[in-house]
Amino acid sequence: MAESRNGLPKGFRSAETGWPELRRIPRPPGRLPLLGDVLGSSPRTPLQDTMRQAERLGPVFRRRAFGKEFVFVWGGAFAADLADEERFAKHVGLGIANLRPVAGDGLFTAYNHEPNWQLAHDVLAPGFSREAMAGYHPMMLDVAERLIAHWDRAEAAGRTVDVPGDMTKLTLETIARTGFGHDFGSFERARPHPFVTAMVGTLTFAQRRNTVPAALTPWLLRRANRRNTADIAYLDRTVDDLVSARRRSGPGEGDLLDRMLETAHPVTGERLSAENVRRQVITFLVAGHETTSGALSFALHYLSRHPEAAARARAEVDRVWGDAATPGYEQVARLRYVRRVLDESLRLWPTAPAFAREARADTVLGGVHPMRRGAWALVLTPMLHRDPEVWGPDAGRFDPDRFEAAAVRSRAPHTFKPFGTGARACIGRQFALHEATLVLGLLLRRYDLRPDPRYRLRVTERLTLMPEGLRLLPERRRTGADRGPAVPAPAREPEVSEARCPVRRAAD
Ligand code: HEM
Repeated sequence: MAESRNGLPKGFRSAETGWPELRRIPRPPGRLPLLGDVLGSSPRTPLQDTMRQAERLGPVFRRRAFGKEFVFVWGGAFAADLADEERFAKHVGLGIANLRPVAGDGLFTAYNHEPNWQLAHDVLAPGFSREAMAGYHPMMLDVAERLIAHWDRAEAAGRTVDVPGDMTKLTLETIARTGFGHDFGSFERARPHPFVTAMVGTLTFAQRRNTVPAALTPWLLRRANRRNTADIAYLDRTVDDLVSARRRSGPGEGDLLDRMLETAHPVTGERLSAENVRRQVITFLVAGHETTSGALSFALHYLSRHPEAAARARAEVDRVWGDAATPGYEQVARLRYVRRVLDESLRLWPTAPAFAREARADTVLGGVHPMRRGAWALVLTPMLHRDPEVWGPDAGRFDPDRFEAAAVRSRAPHTFKPFGTGARACIGRQFALHEATLVLGLLLRRYDLRPDPRYRLRVTERLTLMPEGLRLLPERRRTGADRGPAVPAPAREPEVSEARCPVRRAAD
């Protein structure tokens, strides 16, 4: 990463330089010299700590940590203003800039001005068209069948399953197979594939860099830094092997890698360079699985805790899929209620929980806070998704009907943003939604999901969010092969745990 002498990414702007009336923006009490607003916060849970602050401080607030001051936005009206593409653009903020050593100018981490962003976007966007998605569907089914075989074995042995671990195997295999024709063999391994370990290592390191004073990073993170260098080298090697195997074998099944290697820009005829292909492959392997894995895990948690929602979802799967041995591509999009469950889970726990926006020119945020050109703010998505003015006083309650078509139409635009916004919003949105809806449908159709009544939701943070330690007991539905009566499991609705909630209204 290009760094300035103080250890911060080149061009990093602390809020004092961009917000002329910064003093008017509330901040937490008890600011400590040098350290800043760090009282009561843990380096392991920066997001959840910030969510708690948000509740106290209101829709726009600021925090200072180790000489860096950040402005956070979560009120619906302010966030909608930041979504105005005429006045604001993506900001490659600290969290993302920390990933540049891994992902370089790949799609996710590219600066807006880097020509490789537009080039890669134009070359790769057709890889997410409806037609391309329909081509991925059978491969997604194959991978889901491996998950099901794994869960069947656990069920036969009366064992619970490690939900985030298994969802990570599933989503890694899915993006590896559909994107790059590769098989990491995750379901055949007792421990995570070393690629996953290295990737989690780099994400965790990037997050730690956010919470350690930049000037002290070389000392405090010396060992972690060495480990991170080794992790990046491993990721690079894995990707280089994958690319050279494809170059030797010739084109695959028209996947993303074929596009990266073979497709020229439709207008300029330009192609992605070998170094950029490497960055894009890493980007897609990382961005394409960790977030979807979290989304599936949270959805399974909520389904296991809300038998009435699980019963409705399952009844829909039985109705739409009927006796078909495997669902067709079109039958997945017709699972409207399952999709609402997913949306509601992404509302409460958007697994990529923040994105940053910068002013294209001097402007006034929401008509209230002046910003200079280049000034930026972080949109705190889990709080935007709990804004009581948008979602009502019970915003912390899980209720998939918030995503009924009429309810969606009645809400202000730009208030549900799990996939970011504008030109730099998630290119893999449809991919993730199709994969996750398909897998939820398959699991609901086959199993009752028994929760551990003692489990209370704890959320791990490593740039993305994941329910920590979530285990479920899958039980094959009693009648027939895969289908069964649409009867809710007689699971007791456990009491909501307030103790673990980052904010008062965020129910378990
Ligand atoms: C539930 C799953 C997912 C969530 C919640 C999610 C979330 C996001 C968000 C919030 C952004 C914008 C970040 C920003 O503004 O800085 C983003 C961008 C991106 N996502 Fe996703 N994502 C998901 C799945 C995927 C998948 C499956 C893929 C690939 C197959 C993917 C690839 C990307 C890429 C390449 C970008 C950068 C796009 C650009 O700047 O042009 N994501 N994602």
